[in-house]
Amino acid sequence: MIDSASFRKWMAVPCLVSLALAVTGSAAAQPLSATASDPEIENKISNLLAHMTLAEKLGQLQQLDGTWDGDIRPEQMELARQGLLGSAIYVRGAKRTTELQRAAMNESKLKIPILFSFDVIHGYRTIFPVPLGEAASWDPSVVERADSIAAAEASAAGIRWTFAPMVDIARDPRWGRIVEGSGEDPFLGAAMAAAAVRGFQGTNYGRPGKIVACAKHWVAYGAAEGGRDYNTTEVSERTLREIYFPPFQAAVDAGVGTVMSAFNDLDGIPCTANSFILTDVLRREWHFDGIVVSDYKGVKELMAHGVAANGEEAAARALTAGVDMEMVSRLFNEYGAQLEQDGKISMATIDQAVRRVLRIKYRLGLFEHPYPDEALEKATLLSPVNLTAARELAARTFVLLKNDHNTLPISPQLKSIAVLGPLADDAQSMMGPWNGDGRKEDAVTLLAGIRARLPATTKINYARGCDVTGDSHAGFDEAVSAARESDFTILAVGESAHMSGEAASRSSLDLPGQQLELIQAIHATGKPYAVVLMNGRPLSINWVATNSPAILETWFAGTQGGNAIADTLFGDVDPGGKLPVTFPRSVGQVPIYYDHKNTGRPPGGDSEDASRYIDIPWTPLYPFGYGLSYTQFKLSNLQLSASHIRPERSITIGVDVENTGDRAGDEVVQLYLHDLVASVTRPVKALKGFERVSLRPGESRHVEFTLGPGQLGFYDQAMHFNVEPGTFKVMVGTSSEEGLESSFEVRP
Ligand code: NOJ
Repeated sequence: MIDSASFRKWMAVPCLVSLALAVTGSAAAQPLSATASDPEIENKISNLLAHMTLAEKLGQLQQLDGTWDGDIRPEQMELARQGLLGSAIYVRGAKRTTELQRAAMNESKLKIPILFSFDVIHGYRTIFPVPLGEAASWDPSVVERADSIAAAEASAAGIRWTFAPMVDIARDPRWGRIVEGSGEDPFLGAAMAAAAVRGFQGTNYGRPGKIVACAKHWVAYGAAEGGRDYNTTEVSERTLREIYFPPFQAAVDAGVGTVMSAFNDLDGIPCTANSFILTDVLRREWHFDGIVVSDYKGVKELMAHGVAANGEEAAARALTAGVDMEMVSRLFNEYGAQLEQDGKISMATIDQAVRRVLRIKYRLGLFEHPYPDEALEKATLLSPVNLTAARELAARTFVLLKNDHNTLPISPQLKSIAVLGPLADDAQSMMGPWNGDGRKEDAVTLLAGIRARLPATTKINYARGCDVTGDSHAGFDEAVSAARESDFTILAVGESAHMSGEAASRSSLDLPGQQLELIQAIHATGKPYAVVLMNGRPLSINWVATNSPAILETWFAGTQGGNAIADTLFGDVDPGGKLPVTFPRSVGQVPIYYDHKNTGRPPGGDSEDASRYIDIPWTPLYPFGYGLSYTQFKLSNLQLSASHIRPERSITIGVDVENTGDRAGDEVVQLYLHDLVASVTRPVKALKGFERVSLRPGESRHVEFTLGPGQLGFYDQAMHFNVEPGTFKVMVGTSSEEGLESSFEVRP
């Protein structure tokens, strides 16, 4: 039997040999361990604590917002002078953060620096693709590099704490925040979570250019009922541990410095007052010693949840459950002293929270280096290197969903091209939601990218056609004429950026407004065209999938998005991404995800009683892991290192992948596992390894995966993590729906 501590150890052991460094960090540069408290720092904290009044202690637990534009509010300045402001959110820019920091460092009694925080989600000023897109790269180094640049830009602008990565598993595309995470799968999600932590923090977030990360939203926020943001969640402990916890655990194992409690309630207890997740799991099982910050006014919202009658009760519940810092609401500060006096909160609890806050400030080196450097800020933001990276990384996130008769890539030699659609020249949407300090004037639209890519002699016919939403067809004629007059048409449709993200849930997954009709009008011209999708969630695009010749999914690709899409459309780069989330045929199929259980009446079976729908197929439109390329690949020679192993041993699975086409391209080799018979029901397949490989025409590569107890085990009836003897089916393929199969046995 494997207990949870051993499980943790095994989870940290990468099952994909070639991803070893990407998943765990190099052996030479270990991340700051969650348990390795530095005695010198702890002594300094004890010393400070001994000199702090209760008000000053509570002040360290307070995070207050500046304006949305990044300005200081007068109240923040006043509190900083009094040493009563632990952290600021949204205040940004070297000049402004320095000004507020000076008030704390020069005027407060104890000179404790303020910790400046901001949502640096997919870039600070240079914006990278949205996280769902980054996950579609199936390449953790994309996430690591983007977040490392984001950290360098943010820290140059005075921000030392980001509220990222969002590692919530999301299986309901109605939920707008699906765009902020890595999709539906815990294994892919864990790899991306660890990569993000490495990117933001490096091996030591005290170093220049690094910032402390925050794994959020702890936990199961993505399981909101009906996909309605902030809604209740009801998730079993088994599903928590198997599906929702792993990306958080990977972040903690990678040394993440902070965690944010989620808005939702979980089995009746709001996460912000939930000692099972905040203390039992996070602190006791995982030994996390950083800060738990509430979400925005999450402490106050305990009253709306109906678990606290007043502010005093809300503060007491959050503090005792394990929240250390309160974001924006003020209840710890308003009621902390009274609660302590009444014996409802002990000084030890308050001291412990303050200790965690100060620990992160010391680890960041804030006491010695409280100020950013304006000259560095100027040199870092939007630097040519950062922009080049944004272009290269964005192109790795695109997924080719359809490409009949090699419609793509387009020949750059064509004489005329129509660039159509409401998103073709939308700079704001190109940056996606949560775009940090990104500015639309910096963003390259698809139209601009195509203009830059083609010779001046190529005629470019641009027309919007319609809006993303709304009823008007007024622009159709112009768009249709443009398509008729052109050799080829690119049609950019989808959602605008504000249609996904926080508080942006949708009840429909269809293309909004008149966009489908616009596609149909262009289709009716009979001229060649390709659809470029921009969106923050899976969409049900059945007509397009059936009728349009080519579809390129580009998510929201960031500051350099237009250039990256042009690079891909004209074949300078191969679209090698894969879907990190299932695309349903209809919103009625939601939740739909690839690692479902078989059920007693399997949906794939012949029986009329099978678990299916009477009106549409039960299968997805596009499955998890799916994506085409401009070239073709062949997998062969699937080999297992043994036909049977003991439960505590590992098995190696190898396969050859060959580029059989005539262009260079990327394939993502994916390994799925099925435990055929077990004491609890198991998924029909679960991702346990992946590797993205780039191959020249005719080139082949041998890829190996190692599966050990961490991948073979599961939580049994007694909730012990355990590998059970029996037969395991392995599928190694290029999506969750096709591949080579074999099996092996685990014998006692
Ligand atoms: C609320 C969001 O839920 C959270 O993700 C974000 O970090 C905070 N607001 C701060 O902006």
